[in-house]
Amino acid sequence: MAVIFAMAGSAIGLGNIWRFPYILGEHGGSAFLIVYIAATLLLSLPVFVAEVTIGRRSRRSAYGAMAALESGRRWKIAGALSVFIPLFILCYYSVIGGWSLDFLFKSVTNQFIRQTSEEVTGLFGSFITSTWEPIIMHLAFLAICTAIIAKGVKSGIEKFSKYTIPVLFVLIVVMIVYSATLPGSMDGFRYLLDPDFSQLDAKTFVYALGQSFYSMSLGMGAIVTYGSYVKKKENIVATSVGTAISDMLFAILAGMAIMPAVFAAGMEPGAGPGLVFCSVPYIFSTMGAISPILSSLVAVLFFVAILAAAATSCISLQEVGVSYFVEHRGMTRKKAAWLLFAICGSLGVVCSLSFGPLSGVTLVGKNIFDLFDWFASNVLLLTLGFIVAVFVGFVMKKEDVKDEITNGGTNRATGWIFEVVYFLIKWVAPIGILGIFVTNFLI
Ligand code: PHE
Repeated sequence: MAVIFAMAGSAIGLGNIWRFPYILGEHGGSAFLIVYIAATLLLSLPVFVAEVTIGRRSRRSAYGAMAALESGRRWKIAGALSVFIPLFILCYYSVIGGWSLDFLFKSVTNQFIRQTSEEVTGLFGSFITSTWEPIIMHLAFLAICTAIIAKGVKSGIEKFSKYTIPVLFVLIVVMIVYSATLPGSMDGFRYLLDPDFSQLDAKTFVYALGQSFYSMSLGMGAIVTYGSYVKKKENIVATSVGTAISDMLFAILAGMAIMPAVFAAGMEPGAGPGLVFCSVPYIFSTMGAISPILSSLVAVLFFVAILAAAATSCISLQEVGVSYFVEHRGMTRKKAAWLLFAICGSLGVVCSLSFGPLSGVTLVGKNIFDLFDWFASNVLLLTLGFIVAVFVGFVMKKEDVKDEITNGGTNRATGWIFEVVYFLIKWVAPIGILGIFVTNFLI
């Protein structure tokens, strides 16, 4: 059971609260939600089971896991990919961590109280288009995470996040109930929950799967590494289903808190990465008209909880690279952590600037930040996810996979449950992922 909490802790992060609502808003609203749920159950869940299986069977972290089960240069390359991908994501994940840090300061100083929707949007707009503020916040956020990793005290922040995730859950529920009282909010619920298939297009599928992988921390070695800590008596399928459901639940609840506020404030659901940072302050602003103290309290708690979720994710992304340099390149922890701070921090600065001075630099209509995000979630994650599914489906022996998933035939995932899971891993996931991957380049 404890391992579900650890994996859910890795999965639940900015991906659910910040990324899910805006990707949903850009790619089909309620239709996106349905495709996202289907993609999670049919494609992401099998890959999740496959990653845990590889991790637990090999007892290695991502870099050496596949190569330990099957020799061959190609599995070493796949291992190297699983070190590279999280570091690539770290570059821009920490930019959003920086935004959250800035908004914590804004809520401590009561900047959201009694603002119109234009004013809260303007607050975000002037922050994001400025040069230094977002850069300083991004580097500050990354430096805090780096210091925690360098000291090797990440278990401290993980313990802290055990408390903040339930707090975040309660706050989101409070925000859903509250945003339902805002005039115009019902359109937001309808937008989210009343399926409108005319919104569906090829992009919906591509982005739904990318979001699902991103949110479940798949295709980047993180779950393989967690898998290596999963105890032999634990039921892999049950653990995976538990994590998938809690992750989806968090995303959907975040959408239910945010979309009604978006509509009540007259904002655009497809407004892009700033959506949460405009709509959530609007909630706090209108709450402030009723009780400024309550509003400030909820705002501060909300951003502290978001920051803790972001920090644990950031730390686990960075940790993959740090342990690689420590174990395979003989570096000290401290040196490895600060080296990655320098590399990812600098690339993150470029991502951060792409909302301001570098906003004119675009490729196929995407700025640098969007390109990083697109390349990571729609290309890199799907690539490694595909490799993992093929590895478990075709390279590992079926008896070995069965032995691992059913705990030697002793748990409830035997019989037809195993056959269904195995079929999903071997056929449905690789074919589905490949189809969606190719679609990426056709749209
Ligand atoms: N899944 C996390 C999120 O939703 C991101 C993450 C990926 C965290 C990989 C850790 C490792 O924010």
